[in-house]
Amino acid sequence: MIVSNRLPVDRVIDDDGTATWRPSPGGLVAALEPVMRAEDGIWIGWAGVADEDVEPFEADGISIHPVRLSEQELQEYYEGFSNDTLWPLYHDVIAPPSFHREWWESYVKVNQRFADAAAAVSAKGAVVWVHDYQLQLVPAMLRAVRPDLVIGFFNHIPFPPYGIYSQLPWRRQIIDGLLGADVIGFQRVADAGNFSRAVRRLKGYETRGPIIEVPIDSDDPEAGSHRHVTMNRHGGLVRTVLARQFPISIDAEQYQTMARRPEIQERARQIREELGNPQTIMLGVDRLDYTKGIGHRLKAFGELLAEGTLSAEDVTLVQVASPSRERVETYKQLRDEIELTVGRINGDYSTLGHTAIAYLHHGYPREEMVALYLAADVMLVTALRDGMNLVAKEYVATRVDDDGVLVLSEFAGASDELRQALLINPHDIEGLKETILQAIAMPRRERVRRMRALRKRVLTNDVAKWSASFLDALTRSAHGDHPLQ
Ligand code: G6P
Repeated sequence: MIVSNRLPVDRVIDDDGTATWRPSPGGLVAALEPVMRAEDGIWIGWAGVADEDVEPFEADGISIHPVRLSEQELQEYYEGFSNDTLWPLYHDVIAPPSFHREWWESYVKVNQRFADAAAAVSAKGAVVWVHDYQLQLVPAMLRAVRPDLVIGFFNHIPFPPYGIYSQLPWRRQIIDGLLGADVIGFQRVADAGNFSRAVRRLKGYETRGPIIEVPIDSDDPEAGSHRHVTMNRHGGLVRTVLARQFPISIDAEQYQTMARRPEIQERARQIREELGNPQTIMLGVDRLDYTKGIGHRLKAFGELLAEGTLSAEDVTLVQVASPSRERVETYKQLRDEIELTVGRINGDYSTLGHTAIAYLHHGYPREEMVALYLAADVMLVTALRDGMNLVAKEYVATRVDDDGVLVLSEFAGASDELRQALLINPHDIEGLKETILQAIAMPRRERVRRMRALRKRVLTNDVAKWSASFLDALTRSAHGDHPLQ
């Protein structure tokens, strides 16, 4: 069973009141959907609209159980605490987080609702996999009423360093919530390390490598029902929790297969033509989010055009910025800033036949995304902080001719694995400009050498392997076995 804030599909109510479903945005759903289709499981989550009661239904072999959120909860739990407190806090406070006690209360209440929904429909001893920062209290809430369940938690976004995390007024409650899980997964080694440090500093619990020892009150009548109860080195009773990295991935085979389809390759050629056949197409694909470093990318490109090092005749930047969290103030401001910058650069450097930046504020179907990846000679991923960044992996998976250059921020989790990309620090605008020029001028032999190595990595470490290794750790933990790795 999966529990996540978003379901794989969003309910959309048209102007005439009819309801339809469309795929949900973001990396979490993109990664989990193929896993769930293979597992025939239950998915508990929110349908993307407020105040809608939707009955459970089946889609693609997945049993979907929608959780209702009121308009006020949408504002306080989702837009507020999840996306205006936790999101900026967990992403290095790139934007200032807001702390409001009413938002926290709403977060607790909604987390309880998700936990109740999971407790009500899960079979005895079932494996429940809870996802992401919106639901960090669910593991402990679930364990409190259903100690029989095997509970995993995966954090799709970074876990911040202690100096940042400790700003959170509810820092202990969140740690207690997460420690209700048997296994807690993170994207990077650094995230798991930050979490363990927070546990030691804030709770005083001891850790042994990836194992956290959570003391159990020996008077607690429930003590015996916990899994992995052992004695610690001071003779106290502890429950052990495994917290380590499990870097997420994509269904690489699916992207590769799509990239080989003749009509998608034809569409890629058409895109190049529609852009006026520039020598180089550079591509950025992001949710319109301040963590993605879109402004830094535009600044570097704008300066290269201003200096005359690049011209709009030769190079086009296609920037897909899909709408996201549009009622949150920081996202509104970001949209204004980005669109002002794009307008200025285009006004200054475009010609009638050649637009410097093709800016697209839409989400696109996967076929069109694959055609865009195929059309792009250089992919720019300049995130200031990103849990993983699946777009980087999608680009690599579609490059079936082994050509193309990936420019990748070292602040994206993907940079731990994709070492043959051109790694950059997006804050260093001069360095970013040099790397863009290096990418454009790179000889084919070097492009192919790098892309082959990247493709090997992405095709072997796909999402099926990711979920299998997490679920393996989880089921082993159900049998009292925490691998010490
Ligand atoms: C990121 C988060 C997901 C989230 C997605 C889309 O990938 O890790 O949890 O679902 O962004 O954001 P949204 O707020 O639209 O769900």
